[in-house]
Amino acid sequence: MRRKLVVGNWKMNGSRLANAELLAALTAAGPWSCDVAVCAPFPYLADVALSLQGGRMTWGAQDCSSHEAGAYTGEVAAAMLAEFGCRYVIVGHSERRAYHAESDQLVADKAKIALAHGLTPIVCVGETLAEREGGHTDIVVKRQMSAVIHTLGHCISQVVVAYEPVWAIGTGKTATPEQAQAVHALLRTQLHAATPKVEEMQILYGGSVKADNAASLFSQPDIDGGLIGGASLKAADFAAICRAAA
Ligand code: 13P
Repeated sequence: MRRKLVVGNWKMNGSRLANAELLAALTAAGPWSCDVAVCAPFPYLADVALSLQGGRMTWGAQDCSSHEAGAYTGEVAAAMLAEFGCRYVIVGHSERRAYHAESDQLVADKAKIALAHGLTPIVCVGETLAEREGGHTDIVVKRQMSAVIHTLGHCISQVVVAYEPVWAIGTGKTATPEQAQAVHALLRTQLHAATPKVEEMQILYGGSVKADNAASLFSQPDIDGGLIGGASLKAADFAAICRAAA
């Protein structure tokens, strides 16, 4: 049986004080019987590590460089994230693909370097509204996934996949459990051809997951938890989502 995983993606939100309060409230609300992690902005990772070390929650970052080290101003290396105890790093979030023109291959290269440094990449895939309405959802998510499969080979079994339909992110519009399940099943079938360990792989859903829709999404056979944006910033909401997964 796959364990459920709930990951908070704080995006570019928070402050040292707000983060400390949020993490204290979450620590008091847990532990849960699912795995729980938070992905914080880079400057807060040391604080988050101090708050969470020794507990059940793990943490990660929201991006990493595709390079090992060197003259890449403004970038952060996977090796640096590992030094701060990160367990996860999100790669290929649609906001990075859209605002920073990240290609499928760049995302795959980031996943590869993350794995090389002992981090678990959370690889995001998902279609835009126009792509869904044009009937291209399957082609788009398979193309995004395929770049990562080809770059990682059998190591693909070590990543977490997150299906995040772009039209559902931050819009309050959630994919129905059936819509999400259909894409998750498609992805699992695609991954099946790449690794015999596909049944152990966690595929998360992200896009306006809230306390009141989490349980129905997480009850789908191929939805193994969630990648949570807005609702991960409020302790009571995030705790309720973790309870729904547990
Ligand atoms: P929301 O939960 O705010 O829709 O964001 C989802 C997301 O992008 C998580 O990575």
